[in-house]
Amino acid sequence: TLQASAAPEIPPIPAVQGDVVQAEGDFKIKFSIGTTQSGAQYRGLEYFEKIVEQRSDGHIQVELFHSAQLGDDLQAVSNLQSGTLEMTAPSTSPLVGMFPEFAVFDLPFLFPTPEVADKVLDGEIGQKMLDDASRQGLVAIGWAENGYRQLTNSATPVTSPDDLDGLKIRTMQNDIHLGIWRTLGANPTPMSFAELFTALEQGVVDGQENPWITIEASKFIEVQDYASETNHVYTPFITLVSERFWNRLPAGYQQLVRDAAKQMGDYEREVSRTLNDQIKQQLKQAGMQITELTPEQVEVFQEKLAPVYDDWRDEIGGELIDAIRKAS
Ligand code: PAF
Repeated sequence: TLQASAAPEIPPIPAVQGDVVQAEGDFKIKFSIGTTQSGAQYRGLEYFEKIVEQRSDGHIQVELFHSAQLGDDLQAVSNLQSGTLEMTAPSTSPLVGMFPEFAVFDLPFLFPTPEVADKVLDGEIGQKMLDDASRQGLVAIGWAENGYRQLTNSATPVTSPDDLDGLKIRTMQNDIHLGIWRTLGANPTPMSFAELFTALEQGVVDGQENPWITIEASKFIEVQDYASETNHVYTPFITLVSERFWNRLPAGYQQLVRDAAKQMGDYEREVSRTLNDQIKQQLKQAGMQITELTPEQVEVFQEKLAPVYDDWRDEIGGELIDAIRKAS
């Protein structure tokens, strides 16, 4: 368990920007996420709730649900489509079956820094992806950050692909992630995040990968002794609204919710980036054996993963990959 004295410094929730919006009717938004209440994502949701309730003068009430209480990432999206849930913000990776263009975010080591990710997501590419993902009963209104994924496991320190030989790694339900770990020599299994802690505890899998904040917030330290700072994939969160609900909202409230999603995303990224390093240090102090890979060690992983680009380039579209590389 982490020491209270080492509590991280979290950027305070900013003041609400923008005037009260007048519109007809009262509305309720249930907003559900897969990560826990102590993660950066939930802080962002708290800010969203504050903005929406204040700027609608209480005419839109927001209720927050964390830890997949209303379903994991995929179930929550399906609940949006059927209209039983109003909002969610999943990682893009499990949605590739619905929106193949999201696969670009699963390519290893494509985003060298968070600033490059911001440039892509907040620019033309990100806007086009939001527009294109506004179908199949969903309206996509913004980006936030899950972040750079790091490997943890219960068996051994990992500094090179050779250390992964046969290691059972849980991945998100995503073919590129499966390909990454297979190519590295591990034995990957796709699994819903909601089942992960128990699977790690019972040894069904040896390891998993997620950003430091999620590793800490999900208490994986209780079942994982080793971690490697691989930064192998940058995962965005996409903010989604049920189209059924959206179509009932007056235009003024639609704009209010869009603005709030943007402000939530900016704040959540700030929290995520502030906490990332602090949380890594905390995990170290709490006894997790964390290996920070040298650039040379990272290069070995990158070289080994080159075939993943060959396998997916045509499907994802070389132009998109090149455009993202150009943003770097
Ligand atoms: O590992 C996952 O499934 C995702 O990173 C998570 C934690 C559910 C957030 O979308």
